[in-house]
Amino acid sequence: MQTATTVAEVREQVRAWKREGLTVGLVPTMGYLHEGHKSLIVRAAAENDRIVVSDFVNPTQFGPNEDLESYPRDFDRDCKLCEEAGAALVFHPEPSEMYAPDACTYINMDALTHELCGLTRPIHFRGVCTVVGKLFNIVTPDRAYFGQKDAQQLAVIRRMVRDLNFGIEIVGCPIIREEDGLAKSSRNTYLSPEERTAALCLSRAVFAGQKMVEDGERDAATVLDAMRAIIEAEPLAKIDYVKMVDFDSIEQVERIEDAPVLCAMAVYVGKTRLIDNFIYEPGAAA
Ligand code: PAF
Repeated sequence: MQTATTVAEVREQVRAWKREGLTVGLVPTMGYLHEGHKSLIVRAAAENDRIVVSDFVNPTQFGPNEDLESYPRDFDRDCKLCEEAGAALVFHPEPSEMYAPDACTYINMDALTHELCGLTRPIHFRGVCTVVGKLFNIVTPDRAYFGQKDAQQLAVIRRMVRDLNFGIEIVGCPIIREEDGLAKSSRNTYLSPEERTAALCLSRAVFAGQKMVEDGERDAATVLDAMRAIIEAEPLAKIDYVKMVDFDSIEQVERIEDAPVLCAMAVYVGKTRLIDNFIYEPGAAA
C-alpha cells in the first residue's frame, strides 16, 4: 500500500491505474479510523480494482468553537487498518496542499443543509461538499463510499453529485455498532466511562423508534416523543435534535407515507456531540 501527501502523486497513480483499465473506489475519511471505516474500505475493495482512502481532517467543515484542534489523529494506526482492509493508496495531505491561502470557492447548497446538523453547524456542509468535491476531482473515482451514520451527509453528497454531474456512483453503507449498540464514531474516544454508558441512550432510542415504525406507527410525533423520552431519562444526555425528515429533501415530515424517511438525532453526552439514526423505506423488506 502506498501513501501520498500531494495531489500530483495521487493524480499520477490514478492515471496509471486508469490506463490499465482498472476501476477506482474512494473512501473519504477524516482519519482515526475504526470498524465503521473499515467496513467501507472492505466493501469498496470488493467492488473496485483499486481503493483510495483519503485521511484528512478538513478544517473548512469545523465551526469556530468546534473540535478541529482536538479531533483525534493516529496516521500510523490508520495506515495499518487501510492496508488490512484492502486499500491501495492513502492520501494524507496537509491543509495547505488542499487549500491555497487565498482559496475562495465553495460548494454551497440551497436546500438539505439547513435542517438537522446544518441548523447548529451552519458552515459544516459547505465544508464537506467543498472537500468532497475536491477529492472527487483529484481522485476521479468510479464509486465513492459513505456511511449511513452521517445520513444527512450521504443525502447531501448524493444531491451534489446529481446536481453537478460528477458521474460518480455514491454507495451508502450501514451503520457499524459496538456490541452494546453504540454507533462507532471517532468521537466516542472523548467519552469518560460514565458518559460511555450514558451514550447508549442514543441507540436505545433509535432501536425503539425503528421498532415502532416497523410495527406500523406512521405518526412522526408519536415516534419522536417516545425516542425523546428515552434520551431525556438519561441525566448526562442533552438533546440537540431528534427529528424525522424525508430522506431525499431533508424536510420534516409529520407522517410516514410512501417515501423513505430518515429519523435522526444529535445528542450531547457531557460535552461530546453524538449522532445516530435509522432510515425507514416503506415497501422495502425489513
Ligand atoms: O464523514 C467524514 O468523515 C467527513 O465529513 C468527510 C466526508 C471525510 C469529509 O471531510
